[in-house]
Amino acid sequence: MSENFEPKIIGFMCKWCTYAAADLAGVSRLQYPSNIVPIRLMCSGGLEPSYVIKALKEGADGVFIGGCHFGDCHYQTGNYHTNKRFAILQKLLEEMGIDKRRVRLEWISAAEGIKFARTIKEFVEEIKKLGPNPLKKEA
Ligand code: FES
Repeated sequence: MSENFEPKIIGFMCKWCTYAAADLAGVSRLQYPSNIVPIRLMCSGGLEPSYVIKALKEGADGVFIGGCHFGDCHYQTGNYHTNKRFAILQKLLEEMGIDKRRVRLEWISAAEGIKFARTIKEFVEEIKKLGPNPLKKEA
Protein backbone atom coordinates (compact mmCIF):
# COMPACT_ATOMS: atom_id res chain seq x y z
CA MET A 1 0.00 0.00 0.00
CA SER A 2 1.21 3.45 -0.88
CA GLU A 3 2.23 5.65 2.03
CA ASN A 4 0.44 8.44 0.23
CA PHE A 5 -2.90 6.67 0.29
CA GLU A 6 -5.57 9.16 1.31
CA PRO A 7 -8.87 7.39 1.77
CA LYS A 8 -12.09 8.82 0.51
CA ILE A 9 -14.76 8.56 3.18
CA ILE A 10 -18.45 9.31 2.76
CA GLY A 11 -20.11 10.51 5.94
CA PHE A 12 -23.88 10.11 6.29
CA MET A 13 -24.79 12.26 9.28
CA CYS A 14 -28.04 13.39 10.81
CA LYS A 15 -28.64 17.13 10.69
CA TRP A 16 -29.54 17.48 14.34
CA CYS A 17 -26.61 15.80 16.03
CA THR A 18 -23.55 14.52 14.18
CA TYR A 19 -23.68 17.05 11.35
CA ALA A 20 -23.99 19.80 13.97
CA ALA A 21 -21.04 18.23 15.85
CA ALA A 22 -19.00 18.48 12.64
CA ASP A 23 -19.97 22.17 12.44
CA LEU A 24 -18.95 22.64 16.06
CA ALA A 25 -15.61 20.96 15.43
CA GLY A 26 -15.12 23.38 12.53
CA VAL A 27 -16.00 26.56 14.39
CA SER A 28 -13.92 25.37 17.36
CA ARG A 29 -10.99 24.97 14.96
CA LEU A 30 -10.46 21.36 15.96
CA GLN A 31 -8.13 19.52 13.63
CA TYR A 32 -9.41 16.44 11.85
CA PRO A 33 -8.62 14.91 8.46
CA SER A 34 -10.37 16.33 5.43
CA ASN A 35 -10.94 12.87 3.94
CA ILE A 36 -14.63 12.88 4.82
CA VAL A 37 -17.29 14.04 2.38
CA PRO A 38 -20.33 14.86 4.53
CA ILE A 39 -23.85 14.08 3.43
CA ARG A 40 -26.54 15.58 5.63
CA LEU A 41 -29.60 13.50 6.44
CA MET A 42 -32.64 14.68 8.36
CA CYS A 43 -32.24 11.54 10.50
CA SER A 44 -29.81 8.63 10.45
CA GLY A 45 -32.91 6.43 10.32
CA GLY A 46 -33.39 7.51 6.71
CA LEU A 47 -30.20 5.79 5.62
CA GLU A 48 -30.84 2.71 3.54
CA PRO A 49 -28.09 0.05 3.56
CA SER A 50 -28.12 0.25 -0.24
CA TYR A 51 -26.76 3.84 -0.05
CA VAL A 52 -23.73 2.56 1.83
CA ILE A 53 -23.15 -0.29 -0.59
CA LYS A 54 -23.48 2.15 -3.51
CA ALA A 55 -20.94 4.51 -1.95
CA LEU A 56 -18.47 1.64 -1.53
CA LYS A 57 -19.06 0.39 -5.07
CA GLU A 58 -18.59 3.87 -6.49
CA GLY A 59 -15.23 4.56 -4.94
CA ALA A 60 -15.49 5.23 -1.22
CA ASP A 61 -12.84 3.51 0.91
CA GLY A 62 -14.97 3.86 4.01
CA VAL A 63 -18.40 5.03 5.11
CA PHE A 64 -19.12 6.82 8.35
CA ILE A 65 -22.64 6.96 9.77
CA GLY A 66 -23.45 9.38 12.55
CA GLY A 67 -26.64 9.94 14.48
CA CYS A 68 -28.10 11.13 17.74
CA HIS A 69 -27.70 9.17 20.96
CA PHE A 70 -30.57 6.86 21.89
CA GLY A 71 -33.36 8.93 23.40
CA ASP A 72 -32.24 12.07 21.53
CA CYS A 73 -33.44 11.31 17.98
CA HIS A 74 -35.66 14.14 16.77
CA TYR A 75 -37.92 11.57 15.16
CA GLN A 76 -37.98 9.52 18.36
CA THR A 77 -37.05 6.06 17.06
CA GLY A 78 -35.03 6.83 13.92
CA ASN A 79 -31.72 5.84 15.42
CA TYR A 80 -33.14 2.53 16.66
CA HIS A 81 -33.93 1.78 13.01
CA THR A 82 -30.39 2.84 12.11
CA ASN A 83 -29.02 0.40 14.64
CA LYS A 84 -31.07 -2.48 13.20
CA ARG A 85 -30.13 -1.57 9.65
CA PHE A 86 -26.48 -1.37 10.62
CA ALA A 87 -26.62 -4.96 11.84
CA ILE A 88 -28.15 -5.99 8.49
CA LEU A 89 -25.55 -3.95 6.67
CA GLN A 90 -22.72 -5.69 8.48
CA LYS A 91 -24.06 -9.07 7.37
CA LEU A 92 -24.32 -7.81 3.80
CA LEU A 93 -20.73 -6.57 3.90
CA GLU A 94 -19.57 -9.92 5.20
CA GLU A 95 -21.38 -11.72 2.39
CA MET A 96 -19.82 -9.37 -0.14
CA GLY A 97 -16.35 -9.99 1.29
CA ILE A 98 -15.93 -6.38 2.42
CA ASP A 99 -14.15 -5.77 5.71
CA LYS A 100 -16.82 -4.60 8.16
CA ARG A 101 -14.41 -2.04 9.62
CA ARG A 102 -14.91 0.02 6.45
CA VAL A 103 -18.28 1.11 7.78
CA ARG A 104 -18.50 2.74 11.19
CA LEU A 105 -21.54 3.87 13.14
CA GLU A 106 -21.27 6.37 15.98
CA TRP A 107 -23.73 8.32 18.07
CA ILE A 108 -22.40 11.87 18.38
CA SER A 109 -24.47 14.74 19.75
CA ALA A 110 -24.35 18.35 18.57
CA ALA A 111 -22.28 19.23 21.66
CA GLU A 112 -19.61 16.60 20.96
CA GLY A 113 -17.35 18.35 18.48
CA ILE A 114 -14.28 16.90 20.20
CA LYS A 115 -15.68 13.37 19.93
CA PHE A 116 -16.49 13.98 16.27
CA ALA A 117 -12.94 15.13 15.47
CA ARG A 118 -11.40 12.23 17.43
CA THR A 119 -13.68 9.65 15.79
CA ILE A 120 -12.90 10.86 12.28
CA LYS A 121 -9.16 10.82 13.01
CA GLU A 122 -9.40 7.24 14.28
CA PHE A 123 -11.55 6.13 11.37
CA VAL A 124 -9.24 7.64 8.76
CA GLU A 125 -6.26 5.91 10.42
CA GLU A 126 -8.12 2.60 10.42
CA ILE A 127 -9.04 2.90 6.74
CA LYS A 128 -5.43 3.82 5.90
CA LYS A 129 -4.34 0.57 7.56
CA LEU A 130 -6.95 -1.40 5.59
CA GLY A 131 -5.82 0.20 2.32
CA PRO A 132 -7.92 1.06 -0.71
CA ASN A 133 -11.35 -0.49 -0.99
CA PRO A 134 -10.97 -3.62 -3.20
CA LEU A 135 -14.45 -3.06 -4.64
CA LYS A 136 -13.15 0.17 -6.15
CA LYS A 137 -10.72 -1.74 -8.36
CA GLU A 138 -13.53 -3.92 -9.71
CA ALA A 139 -15.74 -0.94 -10.53
FE1 FES B 1 -30.53 12.27 14.63
FE2 FES B 1 -32.71 10.76 14.21
S1 FES B 1 -32.57 12.91 14.21
S2 FES B 1 -30.64 10.14 14.52
